[in-house]
Amino acid sequence: MTPIIAPSVLASDFANLQREVEMINTSQADWVHIDIMDGVFVPNISMGLPVVEAIKRHAKKPLDVHLMIVQPEKYVEAFQKAGADTISVHIEACPHLHRNVQQIKSLGCKAGVAVNPHTPISSLSDLIQDIDLVCLMSVNPGFGGQKFIEHTYDKIRALRAMIENRHTKTLIEIDGGVNQQNAKPLLDAGANVLVAGNFVFSSSNPKEVIQRLKEVS
Ligand code: DX5
Ligand code: ZN
Repeated sequence: MTPIIAPSVLASDFANLQREVEMINTSQADWVHIDIMDGVFVPNISMGLPVVEAIKRHAKKPLDVHLMIVQPEKYVEAFQKAGADTISVHIEACPHLHRNVQQIKSLGCKAGVAVNPHTPISSLSDLIQDIDLVCLMSVNPGFGGQKFIEHTYDKIRALRAMIENRHTKTLIEIDGGVNQQNAKPLLDAGANVLVAGNFVFSSSNPKEVIQRLKEVS
């Protein structure tokens, strides 16, 4: 299956965000991945609603918004209004995750659940049929440019088995440390969506990097 490629603008040049979004528009990327960090759930602060709105004004591809924030229910509607197409919340930040997922869907967005490296896949078993996307963190959230955690492969296989057993269409997204070397093994293990930040934006030819990721299969 052809992978969905979602460049993460966290690694882009914020002073030239329009140019970076236009690069994504004219590339083979499928989605724009946007990392929202609150300095509480994760030890970093990235960007907020006005930046999502600004990206939306130029983006021709769906916005995949990854909320690394506590109490996401307070802001989900605002992110939908700012232009999010998919909204992922962290299982670790949501004691009432089922309610969060229903809220996202009621706004007409695809609902994603992000899972930290230490969180077992089994914690999704009672909700998997309601989720459009699982964002499997392959680094600890908070920063781009970190080393990929190898245990992620076991988690992808476990999640793929769960999805197949339940006959759901949930997508598996891998977020953190994705590059040309691990892209194929990740897809072979059962991933559908590859997020890539530094690997794309630190290249002198990001479009070509995106194309090479897209052609991996
Ligand atoms: C990490 C973010 C990732 C990050 C990925 O907290 O969720 O989306 O931007 O960046 P790379 O691909 O550089 O690891
Ligand atoms: Zn992310």
